[in-house]
Amino acid sequence: MSQSLTGKEKARLVVLISGGGSNLQSFIDACENKFLNAEIAAVISNKANVKGLERAANANIPNIVIDHRGFDSREEFDEELATLIESFNPHLVILAGFMRILTADFVARFLGKLINIHPSLLPAYPGLHTHQRAIDAGDNEAGATVHFVTPELDGGPSVLQARVPIKSNDSAEILASRVLTYEHQIYPQVAQWFCQGRLIMKEGIAILDGEFLGENGIIFGTTSEQK
Ligand code: GRF
Repeated sequence: MSQSLTGKEKARLVVLISGGGSNLQSFIDACENKFLNAEIAAVISNKANVKGLERAANANIPNIVIDHRGFDSREEFDEELATLIESFNPHLVILAGFMRILTADFVARFLGKLINIHPSLLPAYPGLHTHQRAIDAGDNEAGATVHFVTPELDGGPSVLQARVPIKSNDSAEILASRVLTYEHQIYPQVAQWFCQGRLIMKEGIAILDGEFLGENGIIFGTTSEQK
């Protein structure tokens, strides 16, 4: 993997997807409009024919499918995937709707340079069906969290969290689309901090501009009072 960034050089990103790639699109746009001093070296999907691959192709970004079903084990798939990612020598690896549980060996290879966005207010609701779970619990807010990836599923240190209200009669789909709008803002923001050399993970803690970030990371967005 590449050395740490100082903010002067253009960062190389590799983005992993499994689906629609709206978060990928926010990175494509952020590179194009220079919000991010970065280029996407490759987009890798574990599923063929997904919209995210089309988005990459439209932006002339190399895009590759590596289908997990062609491997005998999770370990073999992750090994091949890690080797492929390393061939692009990225500074930062971005999980953008990549729907695979990663092995500890994979995570170790990219530790401190691997980030994810999860559609809940972590540490609440790791795993799947986050919006429905928040509605079922009667929560009055939901959101998304960008965090460094560690071997624990959705358990790495949070960097930035967007909070949105849950409104009465919200379905999981409506809530998901409200949250997604904020995802597109907070995810490139975290990458920008990283690319500027301002954000690191040290001993399992996220540090921005020398300050340790707390359990939820930085909080951005509305509160339940603004319903
Ligand atoms: C997002 O909700 C993200 O939080 C989750 O998967 C979804 C991906 O959406 N990890 P997209 O493919 O980026 O549109």
